[in-house]
Amino acid sequence: MYKLIKAILFQFDAEKVHHFAMNWLSIFYRLPFGQRLLRLMFDSSNEGLSKKVFGLNFKNPIGLAAGFDKNGKYIDELAALGFGFIEVGTVTPRPQAGNDLPRLFRLPKDEAIINRMGFNNDGVDKLVENLKRIKCKDVIVGGNIGKNKDTPNENAMDDYIICFEKLYDFVDYFVINVSSPNTPGLRALQEKEPLKRIINSLIEKRNTHALQKPILLKIAPDLNESQLDDIIEITKTTALDGLVVSNTTLSREGLKSASQDVEAIGQGGLSGKPVLKKSNDVLSYITSRCDKPIIGVGGVHNAEDMNTKFESGASLVQLYTGFVYEGPGVVKKLKGFTHKL
Ligand code: FNR
Repeated sequence: MYKLIKAILFQFDAEKVHHFAMNWLSIFYRLPFGQRLLRLMFDSSNEGLSKKVFGLNFKNPIGLAAGFDKNGKYIDELAALGFGFIEVGTVTPRPQAGNDLPRLFRLPKDEAIINRMGFNNDGVDKLVENLKRIKCKDVIVGGNIGKNKDTPNENAMDDYIICFEKLYDFVDYFVINVSSPNTPGLRALQEKEPLKRIINSLIEKRNTHALQKPILLKIAPDLNESQLDDIIEITKTTALDGLVVSNTTLSREGLKSASQDVEAIGQGGLSGKPVLKKSNDVLSYITSRCDKPIIGVGGVHNAEDMNTKFESGASLVQLYTGFVYEGPGVVKKLKGFTHKL
């Protein structure tokens, strides 16, 4: 059924389809019995799948990656599709429009997406407003935080602190995003010194709160070994609780799509099937050298992809592109094959 729906939806602009699909999901959810029907169709039992990670109780270890619901508008609806956790954002202190359109492209032959959204979001105040309205109690919500495009890197820390403080009472965990390729200069913050400053200042802020919420760092799959060693050292020398591995890649290696089509798309981060191996290599490198829990993300489309991440040491997995290509039934399918908990 989803194959047919996908064949139709894929005829239209990817970003328009995203908003169209989310609006329809929301309308369906609000119909009498809509929520119950969605749960019946897509949310199978979580028995035996619960897992405690970062001190939080996840009903199942499959999450929706950041960027899908940037403003936290659809958490109840997406939770009805069975996700154990949903990461909202990346959010910035002030609303921003993001890059010019078009900025979201499918590569169907590769089951991939290229995006250069550029942190389009309604700002942290709007996100907080939306989070206050969540009804679903059993889904873990992560807050992925970033900086505004026009904030210079020297002042980036202030942006992370603003988002962190405003979101503190409304999310279960935080992710520091310094790995998006679509905000100029952002990835420079992955270097050891600026990164330590951001992490330590957030940890200082956290210490002023009664409840200590986990803080994770999301990294790019394009880091070299020396940069990865720096990240590993940071996990050991700071109170960071874990990592999210990984964001999209800048690489275009090994794609099946025609190279002129890929070139015509231009800049952006590549996600989906082609990022699976790259993100798994980084995941294995890190898990063999670091004890902190990792969320594995990048290229999960089926049970085999998911279990490879668990076998490589991930404690939890997330997906974005796999959800687009496999449809709303994907979490139910994945839950049926979760063997490494
Ligand atoms: C993303 N991703 C992302 N990540 C992030 O930390 N903040 C963000 O705002 C976004 N935005 C975003 C938009 C779009 C359109 C895509 C496709 C992806 C990255 C995402 O969370 C994930 O790390 C990668 O896409 C790899 O996972 P998948 O898509 O291969 O499952």
